[in-house]
Amino acid sequence: MLKGKHIILGITGSIAAYKAAYLTRLLIKKGAEVQIVITPSGKEFITPVTLSALTGKPVVSEFFTANTGEWHSHVDLGLWADAMVIAPATASTIAKMATGVADNMLITTYLSAKAPVFVAPAMDLDMYKHPSTQANLKTLQSFGNQIIEPASGFLASGLEGKGRMEEPENIVAYLENYFAKGQKYAGKKVMVTAGPTYEKIDPVRFIGNHSTGKMGYAIAEEFASQGAEVTLISGPVNLSCSTKINRINVTTAVEMCQAAQEEFVNADIAVMCAAVADYAPKQYSQTKIKRSGEMTIELVPNPDIAATLGAVKRDSQILAGFALETNNEEINAQAKLEKKNLDYIVLNSLADKEACFGYDTNKITIIGREGEKQNFPLKDKKEVAKDIVEYTYKLIK
Ligand code: C5P
Repeated sequence: MLKGKHIILGITGSIAAYKAAYLTRLLIKKGAEVQIVITPSGKEFITPVTLSALTGKPVVSEFFTANTGEWHSHVDLGLWADAMVIAPATASTIAKMATGVADNMLITTYLSAKAPVFVAPAMDLDMYKHPSTQANLKTLQSFGNQIIEPASGFLASGLEGKGRMEEPENIVAYLENYFAKGQKYAGKKVMVTAGPTYEKIDPVRFIGNHSTGKMGYAIAEEFASQGAEVTLISGPVNLSCSTKINRINVTTAVEMCQAAQEEFVNADIAVMCAAVADYAPKQYSQTKIKRSGEMTIELVPNPDIAATLGAVKRDSQILAGFALETNNEEINAQAKLEKKNLDYIVLNSLADKEACFGYDTNKITIIGREGEKQNFPLKDKKEVAKDIVEYTYKLIK
């Protein structure tokens, strides 16, 4: 999988830099071409001579070679790479990546890199846990960078906890997995709806629901990470997505329906994850409605977006929906699958603890067209997204 791949290995000033030599060796053994870019403090931990002996290439650290004045182009390097791996990544480098403080060759290369970026943090447990580091890692994820989480164990400080750079073998396995997956959905166009819809009553009020959009966003990210061209039609949520996803923001069900119809024409796969309001106020008041005793809001049904798409679905297209149920879950879900002409439906029940709205975890059952069922245990929504994306793959015609 890594044969012939161009990999930039960014090394920063952590004691785990000694493991970078072994990581380099493993990458080379797998047939990758490795270019090391090291920060000034990285060189305090491991010598460039060791690294260049392993890669057969000069190590890049400064913007210029001091004695010849030769300029090292971070832009060319960034374009050359199939992947950039920063291992070990210190708290300082992670913060600079998150904020774009381009004061060394590694960060300028990172900012120029078009290839996927993998970050393997290495630091003391308290530094790793600190809200500042965690916020910076979240920012990097929002850029589409992948975090190879540190392991728990003995740290150079003598303390024990999470912060140890992931072992080189596992970093290599992570990259291999990425490249193996990377091709799976290449050339496929995927549309995902996510989040709630807000149905306006007046300029201040709306009818909405508790959907946070986390499940739909995780699905969109997973498809994108496996090479799909993803359009995410999102209701109002407090989430960001990586820049490789084409995000269309909508507010109401009617807006979502219009965007979905336009996008579906060109989509190979559509996953309807949004919690669309079933009804909208019949009248919209241009001015704020004043309190005056009892009042009634007349509601009109919203379009069923999934059913609208199901009615025009081509044989080659895959259409999936979600069912959030409180009772008679499987019977209700099966009925929805048929009514909306879906290829499968993902059932989650409000009866399950730590599943559905607001949680980072979910517990699903996928029901197929012939009524076949697959149960999954409670998992992080990102893992659930992987299961859904994997399931979808088997249906591609
Ligand atoms: O009928 P119900 O709302 O339970 O169906 C849920 C499924 O249908 C979800 O996939 C949801 O995204 C989709 N849906 C839709 N448009 C609606 C209502 C639901 O696309 N108006």
